[in-house]
Amino acid sequence: MPMAVLTFLESIDLTGKVIKPFCTHEGSGMGNSEFDLKNEFPTAIIKKGLAIRGSNVNNADDLIKQWIGED
Ligand SMILES: Cc1cc2nc3c(=O)[nH]c(=O)nc-3n(C[C@H](O)[C@H](O)[C@H](O)COP(=O)(O)O)c2cc1C
Repeated sequence: MPMAVLTFLESIDLTGKVIKPFCTHEGSGMGNSEFDLKNEFPTAIIKKGLAIRGSNVNNADDLIKQWIGED
């Protein structure tokens, strides 16, 4: 996770907030981002993330809609 994202999240009270992490990538997927979010923000509700390969973004509509609709 880029440090700028972490700095942004640290400036907010995330207690009880739902976070659905997402990113584009070219092979690394979500990396450690979900683990790091859970570690850094234990009072937030971190849901399953979605990592999409940059070259697949244009065909990812259905995947994104399904993921957004997941609990
Ligand atoms: C400086 C930099 C380094 C990156 N390194 C990686 C990497 O090591 N592994 C990876 O999967 N994605 C990496 N990415 C992200 C992908 O390049 C990017 O998400 C993907 O190509 C889609 O591009 P887009 O987000 O501009 O559409 C990096 C991006 C930047 C800007």
